[in-house]
Amino acid sequence: MNRLEELRHRHAAAEAGGGPERRERQHKEGKLAVRERIELLLDEGTFEELDKLVQHRCRDFGMDAQVIPGDGLVTGHGRINGRPAYVFAQDFTVFGGSLSETNARKICKVMDLALKVGAPLIGLNDSGGARIQEGVVSLAGYADIFLRNTLASGVVPQISAIMGPCAGGAVYSPAITDFTFMVANTSYMFVTGPDVIKTVTHEDVTKEELGGPMTHNAVSGVGHFNAQDDADCIRMIRELMSFLPQNNREDAPRRVCEDPIDRADPELDTIVPAESNLPYDIKDVINRVVDDAWFFEVHEHFAKNIVVGFARLDGRPVGIVANQPAFLAGCLDINSSVKGARFVRFCDAFNIPLITFEDVPGFLPGTEQEFGGIIRHGAKLLYAYAEATVPKITVITRKAYGGAYCVMGSKHLRTDVNLAWPTAEIAVMGAEGAVNIVYRRELNGAGPELRAAKIAEFKDRFASPFVAAEHGYIDDVIEPRETRTRLIKSLRMLETKVDTMPRKKHGNIPL
Ligand code: HXC
Repeated sequence: MNRLEELRHRHAAAEAGGGPERRERQHKEGKLAVRERIELLLDEGTFEELDKLVQHRCRDFGMDAQVIPGDGLVTGHGRINGRPAYVFAQDFTVFGGSLSETNARKICKVMDLALKVGAPLIGLNDSGGARIQEGVVSLAGYADIFLRNTLASGVVPQISAIMGPCAGGAVYSPAITDFTFMVANTSYMFVTGPDVIKTVTHEDVTKEELGGPMTHNAVSGVGHFNAQDDADCIRMIRELMSFLPQNNREDAPRRVCEDPIDRADPELDTIVPAESNLPYDIKDVINRVVDDAWFFEVHEHFAKNIVVGFARLDGRPVGIVANQPAFLAGCLDINSSVKGARFVRFCDAFNIPLITFEDVPGFLPGTEQEFGGIIRHGAKLLYAYAEATVPKITVITRKAYGGAYCVMGSKHLRTDVNLAWPTAEIAVMGAEGAVNIVYRRELNGAGPELRAAKIAEFKDRFASPFVAAEHGYIDDVIEPRETRTRLIKSLRMLETKVDTMPRKKHGNIPL
């Protein structure tokens, strides 16, 4: 075989991976093969592969007889919607996609390139974890990756898709990245699997229950997206990328906006029920305000009492954070605080303006929340808002009570524009509770009429948006129908905003 033939032979071997039988098994399980995934992820014909000829160096356990060029990992770069992106994808057909020393080096190489070039990094994970035959060098490889994930955090967007197993310490790379996608029926993540759990704690749990997509999307919050299958997952990654800048020095890509910026929506005037404890869906408000009614929700199934995600206003990507009155009355609890804080920090790191819709009766009361540390977890959201220097705009649609008023992008946390709808109720606490305390003596033995009158008086005197506006804590009380226009005008005004933090190594967010 001459060199040219040898090159072709090696490339063909790399592309064949673990062979047709294992590839067939992959398909039967509902998964795409590694190169099919990359083809879908990147714009057609843009993939440039790196390290296709890399081989593992393990000579133990008969491994020297099983050498496959590329070593079960495909890495390289290409374009997504015309913009550069770096990618690595594990091939489950080669040693179960397990991570070898050379796999880790390949991943580190694309991570280093992504950082130098200032482009996002996407990892498609489908792996049985550390390559058992290699021992500690494989563990070292993971640690090298974790270090780079950490250094790249806040510099370039990092996205993980879990498209098969992801177990043991391997989970910590996705955990450090900005967004984690999971795929229904085929993916799972856990630190220790069902067998170990059975031995140690005698609990019976299936792989799916322990670390399946809905466990992580709805219960643990580890997963941000639940895709139906591989193709759906990759489509969602491409869509997410369309909202993100390439790195922390750039702005997110703008689109031509065909939705009129002065589009008024009269439905918004009556969307908040007159009865202040009735729910409504804040996503209806978001959809009516943003360009083309298109809201790309993040963490949809987790802590539904807060809604976060991306949308566009005037063609410009924005991050939306909104209390959800349709779930737990929109109360802030531990999970919603952490969810909101992480999203706010992502947007701040990547120059994406923040729009907050506020309707929050307060923090969720109860021993479960207090024992769970709502104090330090709630503080994360407060800290994240206070720290954020991107353009920040808050619209109070209804309740802004107590500490939650301060937390949710209040003027006092250097939010740039604070608007309120006429339905806003801004107070230390709800009128019913307040009246019970303030007028306790007068109400003792009095009839319901006096109570109702006192509640109405309290609402009028203390809980109206005009009081906050008189103080300048609210810049304006606006007609709900004009929310879109007011937000867009504010965003345009803030386009050149510069704000800074005091000199420090880093803050100490209450983790
Ligand atoms: C080497 C591995 C492997 C691994 C799987 N394979 N995992 N080879 N190292 N870690 C190989 C199998 O031998 C098999 O080879 C092929 O991949 C497919 O595996 P199957 O078991 O047939 O697949 P499946 O039934 O789908 O089960 C998948 C699995 C299982 C659940 C992932 O393979 C498994 O339990 N693997 C071991 C998981 C593990 O304990 N990893 C170490 C975790 S600790 P053939 O030749 O038959 O196709 C860890 C530490 C990281 O990762 C620490 C970082 C800090």
